[in-house]
Amino acid sequence: MALFGMDVYLHVLLESAFKVSDYVTSIEESFNTYIEQNGYPPHQLFLFTIAVTLLMVWLYRFFFMHELSMWERFKLSLFKTVRRLPYFGPQIQREVEKTLDKMAGSMFQLPPGMKYVYGLPENGLSEDQVMRAVKGYQQLGHVDWKKGNVSGTVYSGQPELTQLCTKVYGEFAWSNPLHPDVFPGVRKMEAEVVAMTLKMFNAGANACGAMTSGGTESILMACLAYRNMAKERGVTLPEIIAPFSVHAAFDKAAHYFGMRIIHVRMDPKSWKVNIKAMRRSISSSTCMLVGSAPQFPHGIIDPIADIAKLGKRYGIPVHVDACLGGFLLPFMGKAGFELPPFDFRLDGVTSISADTHKYGFAPKGSSVVLYSDKKYRHSQYFVQPNWPGGVYATGTMAGSRAGAIVAACWATMMNIGEDGYVESTKKIVKAARYIAKELKKIDGIFVFGEPEVSVVAFGSEVFDIYRVSNTLTAKGWNLNSLQFPSSIHLCCTLCHTLPGVTDRFINDVKNAVADALADPQAKTTGQGAIYGMAQSVPDRKIIADIAWGYLDCVYDIKRKDKDGPVNGMHH
Ligand SMILES: *Cc1c(COP(=O)(O)O)cnc(C)c1O
Ligand SMILES: *[C@@H]1O[C@H](CO)[C@@H](O)[C@H](O)[C@H]1NC(C)=O
Repeated sequence: MALFGMDVYLHVLLESAFKVSDYVTSIEESFNTYIEQNGYPPHQLFLFTIAVTLLMVWLYRFFFMHELSMWERFKLSLFKTVRRLPYFGPQIQREVEKTLDKMAGSMFQLPPGMKYVYGLPENGLSEDQVMRAVKGYQQLGHVDWKKGNVSGTVYSGQPELTQLCTKVYGEFAWSNPLHPDVFPGVRKMEAEVVAMTLKMFNAGANACGAMTSGGTESILMACLAYRNMAKERGVTLPEIIAPFSVHAAFDKAAHYFGMRIIHVRMDPKSWKVNIKAMRRSISSSTCMLVGSAPQFPHGIIDPIADIAKLGKRYGIPVHVDACLGGFLLPFMGKAGFELPPFDFRLDGVTSISADTHKYGFAPKGSSVVLYSDKKYRHSQYFVQPNWPGGVYATGTMAGSRAGAIVAACWATMMNIGEDGYVESTKKIVKAARYIAKELKKIDGIFVFGEPEVSVVAFGSEVFDIYRVSNTLTAKGWNLNSLQFPSSIHLCCTLCHTLPGVTDRFINDVKNAVADALADPQAKTTGQGAIYGMAQSVPDRKIIADIAWGYLDCVYDIKRKDKDGPVNGMHH
């Protein structure tokens, strides 16, 4: 019986297969007849074939070969259409302009009597005059980072280090690493900064690196190197696979270098990247996998060992973003904190970015990108052999660079030394873990995951956490506001290890939470309300427009006060 059934089944299958082929044949035949009857000459057929091919290529590119996914592009064009509608369009535009005007009016106000400089002083100022003006500029800020009121931002601030760096800057003020023949000392320093950092991350004999201007450039360089390697093997649109929590510098790299970035979702409890989801995102276009150690928003370390294993298995380079933790993690063992391997000890990790200008305590403007093998670094190089100005070759983005920044970074690392970094790591991690432990005891808020390093992020399921952020801002704190989901964080630096700072912070959070709990449904006002709203606007282009306005404000010199005199000094 079963056989009989099978027979019938096969018969039907074969019959339909014949029918399909009949159908195809008949299409073919009628096409041929059509061509014969209408007598298309071969060259037209040839052109027709090319046109169809081009159309197919165009369709393929349109659907699959774009930096943004189809869904993202659909949303963009939908909102673009809404913004062009007769009634809504102008209304949205007015609202955006109103916000921008408000922003321009309130941002970067000068104290009474202080004016902008609109042009060169007709006669150069004396040193005394310049220094008096500089003091005026220096005193413009009101946020007191020295007392630990600011999250992140200033990582050391120690006066002795400021003095040392200032002196070293003076020694190398005119140097330029672009000319190592003229400034061999700076070349040696730069090579040594890279060598010292390589050693910290347990790099092998074939490892190498480069100094850059900051974490963003270090990340850009690694992405560029991996993009170039992928292009070399024929990938048209190389893809970065990175956790949702990864630093925006990777989106910037995708934007600058014509790549696509795929954000992998996080485990909702631990806030580490979901490894299974990361594996499923891998395709033949993948040019790199990324993990953060730790990530900026919640200070959580991704499962680097698992990511390295994925990279190894599929033959994909793995970048570890240790921009933030680069000068903490390598010293945590000696400082007495347990930590699984996260560096070149893991087979599969091919590059690491580490910021000397964060917990390395060097002045701003330096960072290091490291590779497990020279072939990766070669892919970030740029050479123009035919330039009339000479054979032009640079290892990173910049041409001319500040040798003095390299020197100050070298001096900082030599001055602090391993014992110094172990000590600062001990103090900073202890402060952050103490804050995390105490915040977890406060009802009404929750801490994101298990903060292991220096950042503690918290949110609330009971009330809008931005209200707490408002209260803390009014008290003189300057924290980071995070989004998706709403939360705030404190990034501990040496400034937060001063006596009393952690307890002052914990107490202020306690009081702010108590206030919020008194009326959980109360409306959020001010800055916090703006942050909340910004997240709920589905048309992200509107938020981008407002951010553009903000960037314009940074260079705004309030042309309105035309009576402005010349030199920006207080009178
Ligand atoms: C700060 C940071 C960066 C970028 O560094 P910049 O020096 O600001 O360019 C990248 N990744 C992480 C995790 C960071 O904290
Ligand atoms: C720093 O924060 C504390 C609140 O803990 C506040 O009393 C102090 O005024 C703040 N300092 C400044 C300069 O805002």
